[in-house]
Amino acid sequence: MTRVNILALGFVAVIGNSAAFSPLGPYDPLQEPFQAVPSLHSDPTLFPVHNGTRSFWMAGAPGVNPLAREGSSGPLTTDADVCIIGSGITGVSVAYHLSELLKKDSETRSDPLSVAILEARDFCSGATGRNGGHLSAHNFMGFVNDTATWGVFDAIKSVRIEEHVVDAITSLVKNARLENEVDLVEGVRTNLFFTNEEEAKARDEYEAAKAAGVDVSVVEWLSQSDVEETYGAHYPAVRLPGNTIWPLKLVTQLFKLAQNASEAFTLKLHTHTPVTAVKRTSAEYGNARRWTLETPRGLVGCTHVVHATNAYAPGLLPQLAGRTGIVPTRGQVIAVRAAVPARELTLSGFTADHRSDYWFVRPGSAPDEHPLVILGGNRLAEGSARGATTDDSVIDPVIGRRLREYLAEVFPGRFESGVEPEMEWTGIMGFTELGDPFVGPVLNRFDIGGVPYEGQYIAAGFTGHGMPRAFGCADIVARMITAKITGQEWELPSWLPTHYLTSLDNFWRASMEDIHNVDHRNVPL
Ligand SMILES: Cc1cc2nc3c(=O)[nH]c(=O)nc-3n(C[C@H](O)[C@H](O)[C@H](O)COP(=O)(O)OP(=O)(O)OC[C@H]3O[C@@H](n4cnc5c(N)ncnc54)[C@H](O)[C@@H]3O)c2cc1C
Ligand SMILES: *[C@@H]1O[C@H](CO)[C@@H](O)[C@H](O)[C@H]1NC(C)=O
Ligand SMILES: *[C@@H]1O[C@H](CO)[C@@H](O)[C@H](O)[C@H]1NC(C)=O
Ligand SMILES: *[C@@H]1O[C@H](CO)[C@@H](O)[C@H](O)[C@H]1NC(C)=O
Repeated sequence: MTRVNILALGFVAVIGNSAAFSPLGPYDPLQEPFQAVPSLHSDPTLFPVHNGTRSFWMAGAPGVNPLAREGSSGPLTTDADVCIIGSGITGVSVAYHLSELLKKDSETRSDPLSVAILEARDFCSGATGRNGGHLSAHNFMGFVNDTATWGVFDAIKSVRIEEHVVDAITSLVKNARLENEVDLVEGVRTNLFFTNEEEAKARDEYEAAKAAGVDVSVVEWLSQSDVEETYGAHYPAVRLPGNTIWPLKLVTQLFKLAQNASEAFTLKLHTHTPVTAVKRTSAEYGNARRWTLETPRGLVGCTHVVHATNAYAPGLLPQLAGRTGIVPTRGQVIAVRAAVPARELTLSGFTADHRSDYWFVRPGSAPDEHPLVILGGNRLAEGSARGATTDDSVIDPVIGRRLREYLAEVFPGRFESGVEPEMEWTGIMGFTELGDPFVGPVLNRFDIGGVPYEGQYIAAGFTGHGMPRAFGCADIVARMITAKITGQEWELPSWLPTHYLTSLDNFWRASMEDIHNVDHRNVPL
């Protein structure tokens, strides 16, 4: 069996400044206002840069981001019950879930709940607007490590949350008949094995998940010849259910649904309004809310604050900086034409090398047209300038070169090496040490009571795998806030891995079994 270990070619980091000005990734001059932000915060390198590259999702066709500059001029909302910082899938999903939870309440509430989303750059221009477009649950993948780290109970929930979220999003899209609007393609995700070790590891994970009662009936193992026949790659693989989507368009629709949900809820969006600090309200701020957000456009008083800032969370919450918090980590993606027409390719999503490389064929091409493929790679970045950075204004030429060769190596004859992509961009992921997000009340690492941050919540740190998790984590934060506002209890859903939670305070009654299994790594932040 010939297997080229295409990742074994060591690369040396050589990043010339001149390469930063690639015509393929021109930064958006409309993002300029962020440049003027005064440095009120401790570490300016933990905030979004003003001149991020342009992604296919944000700029691949005219009119794809109608909310791009929504609320960036005119009067600023200066007062809200809930302020959400960040307009990616997490922030907008918090608004969406709040609007859904309050529908029940619409007859009893005298005043609507006022919610404002504040976004530093264009609408949805963080990781969600720059990612690989996969909405796929990992199923058994990672199960052995999750069991060793969290116990089998939470390992099972790590599978459940992703199935829950993928199902919830695809059902929502279909019920609202938005499949074409958001380019939802339901199908499979094929994970190729470049080495025997990778395959053996996956087999172990599969057996462990199966033994623990995870439904693995959806999993199909493909031999090298199966894969050759179906996909034209010379590797064995495992195939799972999987979906692809236009993430920015999904988030745009979620925003509209939230905005229109009911009379019990109002939603404002202010793009190009970076939050530079969250301060406890004092007399000088002149508002009656618990928290005051500072922005270059003015102050916003808020009772509840949601940090939906993922990679950038440590910018406003210094206790999350560093290896045990959230590390901003750059990924790079290209949109490139296949060498063969659409009819010779399948719409499967693909992953490889422990899921760190990912690609899929965009839907909608005529059978004779050469379709666009969206390809990204994390591991490809190792040994280059990726590392810890919030700078998505630059393109790494070393990774760019690898991305241009990659598909031709994996699918000989279907792609040509060195073809120039139509677009190339970078985006910033929020990595946590163990790969799982922080969800719940913001705590102070040095103050277990958590009182200094009362009313502040976070859902962040999705470690490059947010599409099948963020919507569910946002739901948890929305439930916590709704419970506070209405004075009602809420139940810990059966799909939430307990170790995602920053605090168990609210859950002592919810599930003793969960508490027993939880690892206290995340308590407090
Ligand atoms: C290159 C790349 C490829 C990826 N591929 C996939 C994939 O195929 N499938 C998958 O599941 N996941 C993928 N991911 C991960 C996924 O995109 C993220 O996990 C997810 O989008 C996180 O959503 P979010 O809303 O939490 O964060 P973001 O989308 O990053 O949103 C955070 C927002 O907060 C804003 N913000 C930050 N600080 C401030 C501030 N101080 N004031 C105001 N606004 C602020 C930012 O501008 C940003 O818009 C990928 C990520 C990248 C970067
Ligand atoms: C929102 O409601 C308005 C008026 O009630 C309607 O015109 C509009 O089409 C709705 N938008 C969505 C996305 O449902
Ligand atoms: C983006 O802006 C920063 C700071 O203004 C600058 O240092 C950097 O070179 C810019 N990047 C590009 C690609 O222009
Ligand atoms: C699980 O994976 C994490 C992240 O890669 C790693 O740090 C940890 O050591 C692994 N744990 C076990 C028990 O293998």
